[in-house]
Amino acid sequence: MPSRPISLRALAALCLMSSAASAVEIVAHRGASFDAPENTLASEKLAWRDGADVVENDIHLTKDGKIIVCHDKTTQRTTGHPGTITAMTFAELRTLDAGKWKGEQFAGEKLPTLDEQIALIPAGKRMFVEIKVGPEILPELERTLQRAGGSEKNITFISFVYASLQEVRKRLPAYKTQYLVGYKKADGKKTEGKPQPTLDEVIAQAKTAGLTGLDLQSTWPLTAAETKQIQDAGLELHVWTVDDPAVAKHWIELGAISITTNRSGWLREQLKL
Ligand code: G3P
Ligand code: CA
Repeated sequence: MPSRPISLRALAALCLMSSAASAVEIVAHRGASFDAPENTLASEKLAWRDGADVVENDIHLTKDGKIIVCHDKTTQRTTGHPGTITAMTFAELRTLDAGKWKGEQFAGEKLPTLDEQIALIPAGKRMFVEIKVGPEILPELERTLQRAGGSEKNITFISFVYASLQEVRKRLPAYKTQYLVGYKKADGKKTEGKPQPTLDEVIAQAKTAGLTGLDLQSTWPLTAAETKQIQDAGLELHVWTVDDPAVAKHWIELGAISITTNRSGWLREQLKL
C-alpha cells in the first residue's frame, strides 16, 4: 500500500516534539535511586551509566564542619543508625553503611563526600547540588569546589532554603541557582507546614535574589500562560520528581528544560529521548 505523503502541519508538529524532547535534560534524583541506594557513589555511577544528563544530590554539614551527602538530616532511614548529622563528626558518619538497606549487593557503600561525587562527573555532564542547610555551609562549600574541581560548568545549586541561594549568589555569582518550591496539597494552601506561595511571589523572590531558575514540584498546577510568565521573567523552568512518563510529557510540553526522576534510565527509554 503506498504511503501517504506527510502534511506540512504534521511535519512541523513532529519537528517541534523532537526539538522539545531533545532539549530536555534528565536529572537522576539522588542518582539512580530507584535501583541503587540514594545519594551513594553506586547510585551516581549507575545514573551516569544509564545516560543521565545531570545527577542530583543533597548536602549537609557535619558537627565538625565537613560536607556529607545525605538526603535526611538524620541517618536512621538510609543507614539504620539513629543519628543526627549535625550532632555527628565526619569520621563517625563515614563508618556507617549507606548501601545495605537497599540490598546486600550494595553493602559497604558509604555516605559520600561531595568531593567524591564531583570526581565522578563525566566530561560534559553536570550535578544539581541541593543545599539542605543554611548559608553557614558556604565557606566549606567554596573550599570543596576549589579542591574537587567543581565549577559553574559542572555544578548548579538548588535549594528550598532561600537564604542559602542568596549566599551562593553573593559568594559564587557565576553558578546557576534554582529555587525549589513544593506544591504539597491539592488545595494549594500549605506546603510543609508553611503557606503555599503563589507563582507571583516565587518569581518575585527569584528575581530579587538574582536566581536563574525555578524548580517546581510536579504537582504544581502550572498553566502554559504561567510558564510564559516564568520565561518572560528570564527564569528557567525545571521540575521534580517525575517517575510517570505521562507527567514528564506534560511538563516537557509546558516548557520544562529538565525533569528530575528517580528512574533516569527507564524514563529516558519511555520518552524515547
Ligand atoms: O530535585 C529536587 C528534589 O530533590 C527536592 O526534594 O526532598 O527529594 O530533596 P527532596
Ligand atoms: Ca534533593
